[in-house]
Amino acid sequence: MKIAIVGCGFVADYYMLTLANHPELELVGAFDRDEVARRRFAAHFGVTMFDSFDALLSTSGAELLLNLTNPSSHYDVTKAGLLAGLHVYSEKPLAMAIAEAEELVSIARERGLQLAAAPCSYLGEAATALGREIATGRIGEVRLVYAEMEDGMVFRERHAEWQSPSGAPWPSRDEFAVGATLEHAGYYLSWLCAFFGPVVEVTAFAARCFDDKGTGQPPEELANDLSVSCLRFSSGVVARLSCGLVAPKDRSLHVIGTEGILSLTEAWDYASPIYLRDVTGHWQTRPAILGKVFERLARGRPLRHWFGRRLAYARGSARVPGTSSRMDFARGPAVLAAAVEAGRPLEFGADFALHITELALVAQNAGDYAMPYRPRSTFSRPPVSAGGGLQDLEHGGAVGKRHDRTVGEAPR
Ligand SMILES: NC(=O)c1ccc[n+]([C@@H]2O[C@H](COP(=O)([O-])OP(=O)(O)OC[C@H]3O[C@@H](n4cnc5c(N)ncnc54)[C@H](O)[C@@H]3O)[C@@H](O)[C@H]2O)c1
Repeated sequence: MKIAIVGCGFVADYYMLTLANHPELELVGAFDRDEVARRRFAAHFGVTMFDSFDALLSTSGAELLLNLTNPSSHYDVTKAGLLAGLHVYSEKPLAMAIAEAEELVSIARERGLQLAAAPCSYLGEAATALGREIATGRIGEVRLVYAEMEDGMVFRERHAEWQSPSGAPWPSRDEFAVGATLEHAGYYLSWLCAFFGPVVEVTAFAARCFDDKGTGQPPEELANDLSVSCLRFSSGVVARLSCGLVAPKDRSLHVIGTEGILSLTEAWDYASPIYLRDVTGHWQTRPAILGKVFERLARGRPLRHWFGRRLAYARGSARVPGTSSRMDFARGPAVLAAAVEAGRPLEFGADFALHITELALVAQNAGDYAMPYRPRSTFSRPPVSAGGGLQDLEHGGAVGKRHDRTVGEAPR
């Protein structure tokens, strides 16, 4: 399928570096409103650049638009793409207001177009394996999930030096204005919704713990840098999701069932380790004495939460960036394209993206909403619940080989 990119900044490199995993996607051109970005992108990747968005929409021949612009542009760019008759895959969030995201979904539906949004990490091998373990009852009935999306104090790191492989600077001002929750909550929200269905009730809290991010932005330009959301899913499972830029880096997930606990260490790694422990948090070893020794060794250590049996699962062969984001970014658009080609609906399409966007917006700006909040959006869960998007994954990504290749080293 012919695709085009709008927004040639930091994340666009991640898509370019992973497009090779999906040769069925043919990039016919790109556009950025910033001339410097346009020149840099063209020089590094040899991509055909368009001088205007209109020219790209009307003459590129693209059927699928990748909207990789900053969140404040997502609504306008996606809307224009849909109105021009293109399917759209947008970076997260779908829009910066719930009503705008709803409008985009309506336009897509009216025109029979596919619309989906990042992140697509619920299609990764780690998420799929975790979903399968949950669905097959490995830990009994799931009762509680703790999901951490803590990025640490990146504003105290040397972020001014961070660059993508093509030389795009990390957009710190935009990141701090948009907020860590809108940037990151979607990762685990999409996994959890894929596993446990739509959220029916949220109680969220958000705060700005640091008024100075070292970028010269006044406090009123800075978003909340902490959120904690308590979620109740339609299946009855409850979860706590924390997102922030203050507590130490931690992107782990702990799924607690009636018969055991599954812990995954890193949301941004398609090959993240997954550990199994018993319900009391101990490693059931044979002989049992070994577990006791491990327990004693782990006591008080920071990594004690994943002291358990490491589960084996098939790794994909997809190339991933050699950064902290070890994900096949192009898998999301590839899965969308596969659904279009096959003439079937996306397992996790526009309704799903709207639901994730609504939850992230409510968590980011929790003070603006009465709590508990009942989401106005929902989505139908695919009949197969053995993990997120299994059917689409088979179309969009390689399964069954070792996942051991990385490309394009960058600091983040
Ligand atoms: N930076 C990351 O590590 C990262 C990782 C995953 C996802 N994302 C997501 O990717 C998206 C983009 O982030 P980024 O880090 O690449 O930002 P960026 O600022 O580096 O790049 C965005 C680019 O979009 C261009 N742009 C903005 N509005 C436009 C418009 N209306 N028309 C044409 N071009 C436009 C900008 O000029 C800029 O070059 C965000 O939604 C972000 O949440 C970022």
